Order: sequence, then structure tokens, then C-alpha cells
Amino acid sequence: MICGVLGMVEISRIVGILESLIRIPTYSILGLADERIVYLSTLEGVLSLWSMDKNGGDRKRLTIEPINGATLPKPWSPYVVFIRDVTRGQELHRVFYVDARGGEEKLLADTPPMRIFGLGFDGSRVAFTGATARDVAIYLAKLDGSWEKLRVVDKLMFVTDIEGKYIVGFGNLRGDPRTFELFIYDLDTNEFKMYTPKPGSQNKAPIIRNGKILFESNYEGKNRLYLYDPETGALEKLVFKHDDYEKYDPVEHDVYGWTNDGILWAVGKKNGRSKLFLDGKLIPLPEGTIHGHPVFTDGKVLVAISGLLKPPEILEVDLEKNNTRVVVENRLPEFIEESFGEVRFVKYKSFDGLEIPMYVALSNTSPKPGPSIVYVHGGPWSEVRDVWSIMIASLVAMGYHVLAPNFRGSTGYGDEFRVLDIGDPGGGDLEDIVYAAKWGVNNKIASQDKIAVMGYSYGGYMTYLAMGKYPDIWKCGVAGAGIVDWEEMYGLSDAIFKQFIEVLFAGKKELLRERSPIIYVDNVKKPLCIIHPQNDTRTPLKPVLKYIEKLLDKNKTFEAHIIPDMGHVIIKMEDAVKILLPALIFLEKYLKQ
Ligand code: 4NP
Repeated sequence: MICGVLGMVEISRIVGILESLIRIPTYSILGLADERIVYLSTLEGVLSLWSMDKNGGDRKRLTIEPINGATLPKPWSPYVVFIRDVTRGQELHRVFYVDARGGEEKLLADTPPMRIFGLGFDGSRVAFTGATARDVAIYLAKLDGSWEKLRVVDKLMFVTDIEGKYIVGFGNLRGDPRTFELFIYDLDTNEFKMYTPKPGSQNKAPIIRNGKILFESNYEGKNRLYLYDPETGALEKLVFKHDDYEKYDPVEHDVYGWTNDGILWAVGKKNGRSKLFLDGKLIPLPEGTIHGHPVFTDGKVLVAISGLLKPPEILEVDLEKNNTRVVVENRLPEFIEESFGEVRFVKYKSFDGLEIPMYVALSNTSPKPGPSIVYVHGGPWSEVRDVWSIMIASLVAMGYHVLAPNFRGSTGYGDEFRVLDIGDPGGGDLEDIVYAAKWGVNNKIASQDKIAVMGYSYGGYMTYLAMGKYPDIWKCGVAGAGIVDWEEMYGLSDAIFKQFIEVLFAGKKELLRERSPIIYVDNVKKPLCIIHPQNDTRTPLKPVLKYIEKLLDKNKTFEAHIIPDMGHVIIKMEDAVKILLPALIFLEKYLKQ
């Protein structure tokens, strides 16, 4: 035990909680490869590819070293294609593949290491978006080891699928930071065509089957699914046989596709939870969020699902009898389960009257009002949903009430809400964070004098900014992999992150300085815990070192933990410990006491 200034910090209790939680594996299904269900899991401590038979038996780990992502497999191929960082965290990837039935993993093609962030696979070819310091381009690689760079497209864009002569994807292609257009690359003619049903609309995540492109668009108002035929130019809105889908009225979609019989399914989402529909008919599942892709096979569907304080499991639903069986279970230790309180979804009004949705996770081991944390998600085009999160679970288990606002710019609440941070990062969204703290106090969840702000990545950025611009609200702050200087970061970024910053700021270069936490460092009043991966190439360490030097010069109370040999993304449970352990010890000392 360490004797703190105000009391005792029980390290062994913190380690016990963290150790229990990192043993809770995540599960996310990718699809079927030659009769085997392929899924991602952290079951043995690192993010790996796994496969099992259709009944959930004969589970095999397919990859050894941690991986960074995988394409959806195809039922007609036994191969699973995945990417792996080959640079200890700099996110320079290469493409590999492995047989879903087992065997050794192999390098797919001898491409130079680059940041890969959109992939499609048709059973023999892989199309992907790759970024280097110089450019963003579409690449094609084949299982025979050949590869080519097809076209430089210096935009924020993602390849999503390949079939026949087409590679499809989407991005900010018109140069308008607030809209997404599809692209269709013709491998026969090498033509790159942009497609939008209506300029100014949002069009996302196209997939292609039998020459028809299925995608999400809001060009008629709501986000709905459409089929586009690139040969004829015909566009058709999907109409389902059953009306459960329209009654649910999804705001967005996570994934969609066709069963082997060609029936359309979709995972719709609303208010941070998702539901699965087969030809518009609701598949009965517990409340929560579906991870990855459902697999429809032999009159059944398998899905991975979780909740904010409910670990991921894989369930099987019999489509005729509608009964559910747990295929892969996940159990929390009793002492952790008992510490978890209620999960609430609320909406509150921000400074300008805009309604901000928020998840609130209550701890059973603290009074109300009690010590609370405003948890700021990354992205910023992401969200806190009713989905398992080791960060939030560990805070609740430690005895903090967590307020996790989906500030303006978050996904999940329609594209009009998502684009509200474009041209204004660290502006309205920061106000929403401040108002989340106020909501916590007004609703007798947060003790006014015991509120911390904490986040990773864009959430780390907001933490720095909140500590510098609103130093009186917080008792302390924890900034993980945060951004402190947009100008310096821009110079250190590769081609895709330069695009990212340009889109986020809508080209308003003058805001880069004004919205940088480093210019508010003098105003920081409260203890700050900084945690940063050494090899992070999304939010580089260098500017943070300068920020630390300023904190030191100004005699501020802070601690800084640089995580060696780690990059931006957490793909090892060991890394989750390296980030969370110092954060939890810091909070115990500076927030709770
Ligand atoms: P994230 O990281 O929150 O993990 O997505 C980010 C990295 C870079 C930028 C924003 C967020 N950026 O604007 O460049």
C-alpha cells in the first residue's frame, strides 16, 4: 500500500479489479469461411482471429501475434485476410491471410508497410485503401502474391468491397467536409467514378453482390438502404416484406448484407442500441449492441452481443422457433457484478438548447451524489453506446459514476448531428462536456467537488482542453493519447490524417492554434494525469512532451506515463493495463479522496 497525502491508496484492490476485467474477452463475428464461423476475440490476451464450427464447437485460434483488423470472409473461400502492424505501433500494416480451418498464417503480398484502413475481399483478391506520408491510394493484391497501386485519391476515403470488375467505397470525395459520396472503381477501364444520388447527401459503406451495390444514404431524409446498379444507373430503395424494421425506424445502420439465399438483413441502430432484422422482421435478442456481423446458416443466426456493463457473448437464435441459446458465454466475477449499478440513457440540453444524448453508468459502491467521471469518447465520429467497454467498466467497478455524453459530432444520432463538430472541434462539443458535468450535479449523481474528466485520443484532446479552459469544474483529469497542438500534429501526420484534420476543421486553418490545448496550459489548476503511447502516429507524442515541459516550468501538479513500444490502438490486454492502471491509481488518489 502507498500512503497518499489524504489517505491510503489500495493498489491491490485496483490491480484485482483490472486483472478480473482484462480476463473478460471481447467477441465480434466476421462471417463464414468454408463452413467455419470466423470471429475476433481477445480471449488469450491479444486481439486474434478465431474460428469455430457452426454449432460453436472446435474453437481454434488462427493468429499468434496481435492483429489490427480483418476483412469479412467469403463462404466460398477458406481464407481469412487480415492486417497487422509491422512497426511496434506506428500502424504501418501489411496484409496476411490464414486458413479458417487452421494452419500457418502467410504474408499475402510484398507491399510496403503503410496505414491500411479500408479492406474488401472476394475470395481471391483484396482491395484496400493505404496511406503513406505522401499519398492515399487504392491498392489491389491477389492471393498469388501479385499487387498493384491502382490510383491515388487524396481524400478521406475507405474501400469497403470488391466483386467482379468493381471496387467500391466511400469518402469525402466532392471536397465538401460535410458529405460522403460513393466511389466505383472499374478494374476493366481503370475509371474512378464518384456517385451520389443527390449532392449534399451522406452515402456510406457500399457492399456489392451480383453487380448491385447496397449502401446507406440519407438523400431522401432518413438514413435508409438503397440498391444501385452501376450498369443501368437504376437506384432502388429497399422495401422489406415485414414491417418491424420501419416500426423500429432506425437512425443509422451498423452492417447489412444478404443471406446465402439472397435475403437482405440489416442491423439498425438507435439511441446507442442495435437490432437485427431479416427481410424487415425483428430477430429477438437481448437489449444491447450487436458486434460485427450476424451469420445466417441452417435456419439459425449467430450473433455476438454485449451491453455497457454486460460482457460480450455469442448467441444463436433458431429462426423458426425463435428460441435463443448461448454459444459462447462470458461471466463476470461476483464482486465485479455487484459493483455494477444501473445503466441509463438520458438526453440533456446543452448551452444552445441542443439535446445531447448520454449514457450514464452508475456504481453500486458509491453514494449518490458521489465521485463521478465525465468520460469523453474518441473519434470524434464515434460514440459511447450500450456496448462493453473495459474503460467504463473499470471506472464503475472502482466506484465512480460514469457520465458518457455523445457530444455534438458523435455518430448514432443522424448525420445532421454528426457534422456539427466540423469546422468547430473543441468548440460546441467542449461545451457539451461541461454541460454533462452540470447535468450530473443537477441530477444528484455527481458530487460537485468530485468530478473528473477523462478520455482517450479525441477524448484525451477534450480532456486537455477542458482542464485548460474550464479549470474550476474538475477535481482532476486523465488524458490518454490526447492532442495538444493541432498545428504541430498536422506537420507530423501522414496523408490520411492530414485529410482528417482538414475535414474536421473544414479547412479553417486559423482555428488550429486557437483550439490547441497547449495555449491554455497556464490555466491548468488541477492535477492532470497524462498517458501516452510512445509510437503513436495518430496523436504523436512529440507535442505532448512540449506540453509536459510547460507543466513542469509552471510548477503544475501532473504525472506522465509514456507507454513503451505501443501505438494508438489497444490490441493487447497488457497495453490496456499499462493505460488503465496509472489512471485508476491517480483517480483513487486525486478524485475519490
Ligand atoms: P481517435 O484519434 O479519437 O482515436 O479517432 C484521433 C486521431 C486524429 C484525429 C482525431 C482523432 N485528428 O483529427 O487528426
